[in-house]
Amino acid sequence: MQHTFSDTTFCIRTFGCQMNKHDSERIGGMLEGLGSLQVDTYEEADMVVFMTCCVREAADVRLMGQVASLKNLPVRSASKLGRRIVAVGGCIGQRDGEKLTTALPHLDVVFGTHNLGSLPKLIGAAMESGGHHVEVLDSAKAFPTDLPTAREHGWAAWLPITIGCNNFCSYCIVPYVRGREKSRPLEDVVAEAQAYVDAGVKEITLLGQNVNSYGRDLYGTPRFADVLDAVDDTGIARLRFATSHPKDLTDEVIERFARLRSLMPALHLPVQSGSDRVLEAMNRRYTRSHYLGLVEKLRATCPDIALSTDVIVGFPGETERDFEDTYRLVEEVGYNQVFTFIYSKREGTPAASMHDDTPHEVVQERFDRLVDLVQDKAWQSNQADKHTTVEMLVEGASKRDRTILAGKSPKNQTVHAKLPDGVNADDLAGSIVRVAIDEARTWYLSGTVIDGLSAARTQQTDAR
Ligand code: SAH
Ligand code: SF4
Ligand code: F3S
Repeated sequence: MQHTFSDTTFCIRTFGCQMNKHDSERIGGMLEGLGSLQVDTYEEADMVVFMTCCVREAADVRLMGQVASLKNLPVRSASKLGRRIVAVGGCIGQRDGEKLTTALPHLDVVFGTHNLGSLPKLIGAAMESGGHHVEVLDSAKAFPTDLPTAREHGWAAWLPITIGCNNFCSYCIVPYVRGREKSRPLEDVVAEAQAYVDAGVKEITLLGQNVNSYGRDLYGTPRFADVLDAVDDTGIARLRFATSHPKDLTDEVIERFARLRSLMPALHLPVQSGSDRVLEAMNRRYTRSHYLGLVEKLRATCPDIALSTDVIVGFPGETERDFEDTYRLVEEVGYNQVFTFIYSKREGTPAASMHDDTPHEVVQERFDRLVDLVQDKAWQSNQADKHTTVEMLVEGASKRDRTILAGKSPKNQTVHAKLPDGVNADDLAGSIVRVAIDEARTWYLSGTVIDGLSAARTQQTDAR
């Protein structure tokens, strides 16, 4: 297998959520381990792997266009394969399997969410013979995290603690394409976290569709608070998690925001709607008042906590009054960030057969109204940090302006600071510096670095 992949190049395009991004890192790790080189563009790539998402229709449509565009793209001159191998995995691969090869006849490989590890074998088979090589499994044989990873940043790691979802929110396709919830044994989670810390990782994000129910399948009772304690004990600088379902967020977990040194004061708590009637139709299994009660407890425990959420506008049968309930909830909570989505009908989900007669223009107008509010509230929330000092985990130079250092605050806000003289932004990536904030905008804070540059300066002196 090693021999097959040597002197080849591959490129991965990822759509969708962090779980997919993490799966892409595992695929990158596997293919690199076999001797293939990861490249950024389709032109340079002998193999292109699409990691797909079908949570909303827009993501589906984009894939088709991108795969079709590869058909007539010349193969790179040094390619030993003589053609480009195209593979589709992720959630569309899982949902459509063999069917994809009818819509996209030049596809070589289709794989699903439960068999990432089979990709080298499938690509190897495609190298040997033409035709379609499809493998999609109904469920995962084992928790698929014993695969290597090629992480995007050396200082940040995603760590899946559960895969799949048992919640079946009525609009959502995820449980059908990711299967039933499976937790990973606590010892394995801790061992991986410790290995990251030992390798210099500064931030770990625990991943799951609903991390709060971690452990129910293994231990009979959720043990997410134990995971937080154990990962905090590894000495990680920053700990985050996503996603947290409001119905399962316990007092125990909330209390960790006050107690654990590494747990950052930021929580993504998707509300979806502020109307009890809609929440029930969505099968979310909490009420508006339960959700607001959680927000109250979180703020009592960690007054500075930054909250973010997801909202769906235009769920089947949503009335103006339902929407106003959502609008008022968003106004009341004052989120730092809200991801707003227009409802997208997903075949096979219960909501797809619900009566839906709200005209698109009405939904769009509600959506626009909400986005305006979200922006006002984000700006307002950020004002609390003006004239304070925040610790920024440096990501590197800003993509738009190389003289600006960019990173993230504990509350997960984007922070910008002028790059100090004599410092290379790349040397600082992954370090934590203190920034005095003098400006707070809607989507970022900016200021001046006042502390924490010694690492970069020492490295620079050594280099001379
Ligand atoms: N497990 C996570 C993430 C699910 S997908 C959670 O429960 O929050 C991310 C977001 O996509 C959801 O929170 C929801 O707001 C949105 N979403 C899911 N299905 C959708 C659909 N059919 N139409 C529009 N938005 C949808
Ligand atoms: Fe989808 Fe609901 Fe599961 Fe999230 S909790 S993945 S929204 S079914
Ligand atoms: Fe999309 Fe699959 Fe994630 S449908 S949101 S990539 S679980």
